[in-house]
Amino acid sequence: MTLREIAVKVHAHAYAPYSQFKVGAAIRTRSGRVFSGCNVENVAYPEGTCAEAGAVAAMVAAGEREVVEIYIVSDGPKPASPCGGCRQKLAEFARGEVVVTLGTTHNSAEVRTLLSELLPGAFTSDQLEKND
Ligand code: THU
Repeated sequence: MTLREIAVKVHAHAYAPYSQFKVGAAIRTRSGRVFSGCNVENVAYPEGTCAEAGAVAAMVAAGEREVVEIYIVSDGPKPASPCGGCRQKLAEFARGEVVVTLGTTHNSAEVRTLLSELLPGAFTSDQLEKND
């Protein structure tokens, strides 16, 4: 199965009764394994989680930490862009040159970009140093 096929498959499982906007994310790791996640909304709206967060959590729980390819699929006529928080979550485990492909379930349109383009100037661990 391609990364898109895996993302489309998990997209079908998304729980999005409030926004009606389903998202699926598939991430391939350096070892070749693929982890996927979908958005899971909640009646207490801020408690909902994004598809990318689910995929990252599944990867880390399986003991993997290095993302080499990302595919995100959502509803809508055009591929949607990942939210800011998810860009930062992905950047924790993926280098800037990792290709992020955005797709839609409506048609074959795809946007290929890089994580560094989605999140220029990311907050990184070297900035944790304190100024004292
Ligand atoms: N959503 C994601 O799953 N990932 C994103 O990057 C953007 C937004 C979800 C959250 C919510 O369930 C729905 O899409 C509408 O915002």
